[in-house]
Amino acid sequence: MELEPNQPLGIFDSGLGGLTVASAIKQLLPDERIIYFGDTAHLPYGDKSADSIIYYSRKIADFLLTYNCKTILVACNTASATAFTELHRIFGDKALVIDVIDPVVSYVTEKFPASKIGVIGTKNTINSNTYTLKIREKNPGAEVVSMAAPLLVPMIEEGFIYDDISNAIIRTYLSNELLEGIEVMILGCTHYPIIRNQIRKYYDFRVEVIDSAEIVARHLKEKLASENLLAGSRQDEDLFFVSDFTDYFGKIGRMFFDSSINLLKSDIWK
Ligand code: DGL
Repeated sequence: MELEPNQPLGIFDSGLGGLTVASAIKQLLPDERIIYFGDTAHLPYGDKSADSIIYYSRKIADFLLTYNCKTILVACNTASATAFTELHRIFGDKALVIDVIDPVVSYVTEKFPASKIGVIGTKNTINSNTYTLKIREKNPGAEVVSMAAPLLVPMIEEGFIYDDISNAIIRTYLSNELLEGIEVMILGCTHYPIIRNQIRKYYDFRVEVIDSAEIVARHLKEKLASENLLAGSRQDEDLFFVSDFTDYFGKIGRMFFDSSINLLKSDIWK
């Protein structure tokens, strides 16, 4: 595989959640050009079949490669849990295929080896048990509890973030007795950093709420550096594709990327 530093980064998610990762990457690596794809036409991935998620992810990876991307960064926990192995097998010789789960697992097992860990995510991510299995692989004695929180993605995509509705939903999930006594909370969905502060507040700032976006950005930087693939100077403008326009995508996009966000509709599903 012959990759060049000035090729863009390819990043995708089912919707706007991956923007949390893209934005952390932009802050850490401002010279990198980003090609982002949000599959809003098929959102949420959290309750789709594995076959569908693998199919969507493959098509999106093909699309990102038409832009000559040096990475296929799966900025979606659900696709990371379901489709990463397949994506790595198919595209591993064309680009660096990177998931969002492994970097978080490494960080948490190193930093909090003796803590009770909670994980929230979509139904698919939680049912796959990926976080628990990977954490226990590194730290067999780890105490991990995980819980699906399926309303959070549609809530965020609809813009319910700082209000009574979002607070009631967050409270209902987090007060589940399963999560009692956790010291660390992994936000196992890239949408959730958008409500990280509300989650920290719910716990009175006593629980370490992990920002996966920053961890993934740091992991990407290390990976690119080790492969001599860090872009040397500012590249062309970033491109943000969605498979369907939703009102809120543009607004959240601008929240992360100012007015500079260039939102384009792509019809890869036609
Ligand atoms: N951001 C995706 C994730 O990290 C959301 C999944 C969904 O579309 O349900 O899992």
